[in-house]
Amino acid sequence: MDIYVIPRSFTVLYIYDNIVLLVLGTKEGVKMQENTKKILFSGVQPSGTLTLGNYIGAIRNFNLLQDEYNCIFCVVDMHAITVRQEPSLLRRRRLELAALYIASGLDPEKNLIYCQSQVSGHAELNWVLCCFTYMGELNRMTQFKDKVAKHPDNINAGLYTYPVLMAADILLFGTDLVPVGSDQKQHLEIARDIATRFNGIYGDVFTIPDGYFGKAGTRVMSLSDPLRKMSKSDTEDSFIAMLDEPDVIRRKMKRAVTDSETEIRFDREQKPGVSNLLEIISALDNVSIEQLEQEFAGKGYGDLKNRAADVVIAALEPIQHEHKKLMADKAYLQTMLDKNAETASKLSYRILNKVYRKIGFR
Ligand code: TRP
Repeated sequence: MDIYVIPRSFTVLYIYDNIVLLVLGTKEGVKMQENTKKILFSGVQPSGTLTLGNYIGAIRNFNLLQDEYNCIFCVVDMHAITVRQEPSLLRRRRLELAALYIASGLDPEKNLIYCQSQVSGHAELNWVLCCFTYMGELNRMTQFKDKVAKHPDNINAGLYTYPVLMAADILLFGTDLVPVGSDQKQHLEIARDIATRFNGIYGDVFTIPDGYFGKAGTRVMSLSDPLRKMSKSDTEDSFIAMLDEPDVIRRKMKRAVTDSETEIRFDREQKPGVSNLLEIISALDNVSIEQLEQEFAGKGYGDLKNRAADVVIAALEPIQHEHKKLMADKAYLQTMLDKNAETASKLSYRILNKVYRKIGFR
C-alpha cells in the first residue's frame, strides 16, 4: 500500500479500513489518528474560463477552508460532456482548471485535486443512484429545463440525469459540506433526498451533506449589467476571466457600467454598478466599504475604476504567473492528477463497497 500518496489529512478515513496500521509507527501517524476534520467536496466543470466571481465567491474561500476541512476539489469532466465538447479543448481545460486551483493556493498535497473520469466510482455509484431517483424528481430540475431551451438539438439523457451524477460525486466520499453557488441549491437538495431514501431502506450508508453558499455580499455582479451575477456565458466585457491579461482587465473595468451621478457611495439598489466595484475592492484589498467611501469622497468614477483594476490585477497576476509555470510542466500536472485520482479511488471504495454489499452485489 503506497501510503505516501495519501494526503495527511485524509488518513483518518483509512482507519476504518485498518490501512492506517501501516503508518501508525511514524510521527505523522499519531497526527493522522487525531484527524477528525469533516469532508468538503466541490466540483467545477472544465468547460470554460473561471471568472473573478468564481475567484472571490469560491476559490478564495477554499483557501481558507483547506485547513479546516479535508477538501476534495474535483474537475468534473464527466458532467462537462452533457454538452458537446471539442476533445482537444476539453483535454486542455481539465489541466488548466487543475492548474488554476493549485495556482490559487490550493495545495495538491493537502487536498485531493483530481479529474472525475479517472475515478470510476463516480460512474458506478451514479448508476446505483439512478435506480433510486424518480423521473418525477428530475422533471422538476430547473437547470435541466434551462439547458433544454439552450441546446434543443442535443437533449440527451446525460443532461437529464446530471443531478444524479452530482449526487454520486458528493455521496461517494461521505461529504459533510458542499460549497456551491445558489444555482446549485436544487441539485444539492436532490442529493440529500436520494441519500435519505437510500439510508431509509438500507441503514446509514450515506452522510447527508450540507450546502455552503458563502457569505452574502460576496456575489460579484456583471460589469455590463450589475443587476445580474457575473457569468462566463455572458458577453466578453461583462466578466473578468481569472486569466485575463492586465490590460484587458483595465479595459473591462473602464467600461464597467455605473450610473449618471458622480457620488461614490454603497447602495446596491440605487447604485448597483458603483457598489459592485466597491465590493470587489473591499473583498480583495481587505478594506471596509466605509473606509473606501471615505477614501473616495470627492473623487470620480474614473478613480474608482482605476483602483478596482489595480486591486484585481494585483490579486490575479501572481496566480496567472503561477498558472503559466504549471501549464509549462504538464508532466507534473498529469502525475499529480494521476496520484490524487488513485487516492480518491481508494477512498471511494469504502462507501462503494458498502453500497454494493447492501444492495446484494457482494
Ligand atoms: N453542477 C455543478 C455546477 O455546475 C458542478 C458539480 C458537479 C458539483 N458535481 C458536483 C458541485 C459536486 C459540487 C459538488 O456548478
